[in-house]
Amino acid sequence: MDARASSSSASSILFLAAIVAAYFYSSEAAVSKGSFEDNFSIMWSEDHFTTSKDGQIWYLSLDKDTGCGFQTKQRYRFGWFSMKLKLVAGDSAGVVTAYYMCSENGAGPERDELDFEFLGNRTGEPYLIQTNVYKNGTGGREMRHMLWFDPTEDYHTYSILWNNHQIVFFVDRVPVRVFKNNGEPNNFFPNEKPMYLFSSIWNADDWATRGGLEKTNWKLAPFVSSYKDFSVDGCQWEDPYPACVSTTTKNWWDQYDAWHLSDDQKKDYAWVQRNLVIYDYCQDSERYPTTPEECSLSPWD
Ligand SMILES: *[C@@H]1O[C@H](CO)[C@@H](O)[C@H](O)[C@H]1NC(C)=O
Ligand SMILES: *[C@@H]1O[C@H](CO)[C@@H](O)[C@H](O)[C@H]1NC(C)=O
Ligand SMILES: *[C@@H]1O[C@H](CO)[C@@H](O)[C@H](O)[C@H]1NC(C)=O
Repeated sequence: MDARASSSSASSILFLAAIVAAYFYSSEAAVSKGSFEDNFSIMWSEDHFTTSKDGQIWYLSLDKDTGCGFQTKQRYRFGWFSMKLKLVAGDSAGVVTAYYMCSENGAGPERDELDFEFLGNRTGEPYLIQTNVYKNGTGGREMRHMLWFDPTEDYHTYSILWNNHQIVFFVDRVPVRVFKNNGEPNNFFPNEKPMYLFSSIWNADDWATRGGLEKTNWKLAPFVSSYKDFSVDGCQWEDPYPACVSTTTKNWWDQYDAWHLSDDQKKDYAWVQRNLVIYDYCQDSERYPTTPEECSLSPWD
């Protein structure tokens, strides 16, 4: 958004600022200020997790022995899911920070999943973000983007909007990826299974940085990623009854306006498409001689 603002007139910047301020004001109210244990548990290596003194900032660390991960206690189906992350600075080649939603605790064969993965790099070389979508255990829907800022310098907000019409990945409220539902029975759109939210840090120097050419420098360990301001405005799943049926009236994230990008979001999205996309599986005809069906759905609708 910053990069585009320079070409806008002063009045529209002020107007935008007012909207953004109003938006943030209303959404900050939903930020969870409870303790970590209220809503999260550690998945593995408790001793690689720490918090700030006041408990509001969380740190995951990776060393040669192991990484670490946490997950929500609750599952959700549809909503707005958001968190601020600051990534490992300096030489972080081979280090992957994942921030994702998944219907299962492990890599089960029938899982649905929505991924943000941050692929570390050598000092001064750009981090990439990779996003992916899984339905019933099948993924292969990768996109890779550059960012318009250094994600290791400060916290930035990474969010997912999920309803029965679209999944949108946002970075600082700029939509970087739109994944549509065609509404047909055999669609590739995860919409049935409730998902937990996870984050983890791990080593993937066999593939992550320049395709695995750049190995992790363990002399620099531990590698630490930081988190704060987890916020959910969504439907919390309750067993045993099928909860969280779309109502389209009760919640903003399920209403008509959230079924497609707004005009302002379309401008931001177009800017991202023009400038920051490194890889899009829909364009990879070597990998997919037949283009996957969902690739024909327009993000502009
Ligand atoms: C977080 O935990 C509290 C206490 O258990 C619960 O009331 C609240 O609904 C949870 N928030 C989310 C977003 O799941
Ligand atoms: C989901 O995947 C499982 C295991 O691969 C398969 O048996 C099942 O038929 C699939 N379900 C649907 C609805 O496609
Ligand atoms: C790391 O930096 C290199 C060199 O600039 C670049 O080609 C690559 O895309 C960057 N990111 C990753 C994850 O490899």
